[in-house]
Amino acid sequence: MVDALGVGRFLQTFVLALSARGIGTCVQVSIAGYPEVLRDQLGIPEEHRILCGVSIGYPDPTFPANHLDVPRNPLEANVTFLTE
Ligand SMILES: Cc1cc2nc3c(=O)[nH]c(=O)nc-3n(C[C@H](O)[C@H](O)[C@H](O)COP(=O)(O)O)c2cc1C
Repeated sequence: MVDALGVGRFLQTFVLALSARGIGTCVQVSIAGYPEVLRDQLGIPEEHRILCGVSIGYPDPTFPANHLDVPRNPLEANVTFLTE
């Protein structure tokens, strides 16, 4: 079974470390729906499970899509605080 929690923790740290060095990323889980294409194009062996991809590169600040303001859900939509 894929350790999704461990992968998520690694992925966040990886993305933050790259961002701190001025390198942009775009996490994409949708490409995992096309494993045969990824295996063929990237030579990924069958014993490796594909959970997601991460595009990496230097951001172009002049590209309009890089100025999209993508809203976030409010904290309450993702976290439940349990108090006594
Ligand atoms: C785990 C995860 C999976 C994602 N998968 C996709 C995806 O399959 N396709 C996509 O367009 N964006 C996906 N995203 C969103 C983009 O990576 C990115 O967060 C989004 O384009 C907004 O950019 P921003 O986070 O810089 O605001 C995913 C994000 C995360 C954290």
